[in-house]
Amino acid sequence: MDYSRLKQIAAEKAVEEVKDGMFVGLGTGSTAKFAIIKIAKKIKDGHLKNIYGIPTSKKTEELAAGLGIPLLSLNQLFKLRTKNVERRTLNIERTKLIDITIDGADEVDSDLNLIKGGGGALLREKVIAQNTGRLLIVVDKTKLSSRLGEKFFVPVEVLQFALESEINFLESLGAKTDIRKSDDGGFFVTDEGNYIIDANFGKIENPAELNSLLNERAGIVEHGIFLNKLVDSVYCSSNDGIEILS
Ligand code: A5P
Repeated sequence: MDYSRLKQIAAEKAVEEVKDGMFVGLGTGSTAKFAIIKIAKKIKDGHLKNIYGIPTSKKTEELAAGLGIPLLSLNQLFKLRTKNVERRTLNIERTKLIDITIDGADEVDSDLNLIKGGGGALLREKVIAQNTGRLLIVVDKTKLSSRLGEKFFVPVEVLQFALESEINFLESLGAKTDIRKSDDGGFFVTDEGNYIIDANFGKIENPAELNSLLNERAGIVEHGIFLNKLVDSVYCSSNDGIEILS
């Protein structure tokens, strides 16, 4: 089966978890796109009701709006769901105001840590993931690895202001770096107006440690390592069928 069909199978299986009345985080990328198309079809056919999507990128927002999925920004969602609740009384669980998010990944290790951001939307994707009750990741089997970094570089979103200093920092950690380019040959600019450095660390022995090191840098706005505590299940398709890892 071709990869595109495998992506579709994983995405559509995850959509079975979306139920009436849910607030649904809509991921970015070619696999998440299949989930969005399926959700839109179910809404149109009357099989899903009272759904709101919260997009993880401008691209996803355009796609989902074009398919007729009712959308809310994260800010609108918070206003809607906390209307009568005093902000200071919100606890961690109650801030998970998105019921479920379906998103892709570039690499998944055996502990279900992820690399994301191949499509450049890692910052909003992580914000949405942190606000989500259940994050379902949809991939085909080629994305699985024993250690992060085996198959994909780590996208690192940096302030334009700090570009050169963060390249220097990443190289001091042993990474080979590339500034991501857009199709017109200029630097790729994210939805939040930042640049992306693709950092190749080779196999990453300790993703949690690298996560912390990157988090400490002021010039790094966010990075594509998503530790497994964010992830609920990985829907992984192959020619042998679909496996749900959790
Ligand atoms: C977007 O920024 C990414 O995190 C995607 O979720 C990831 O790159 C997977 O994309 P594909 O489904 O297109 O492989």
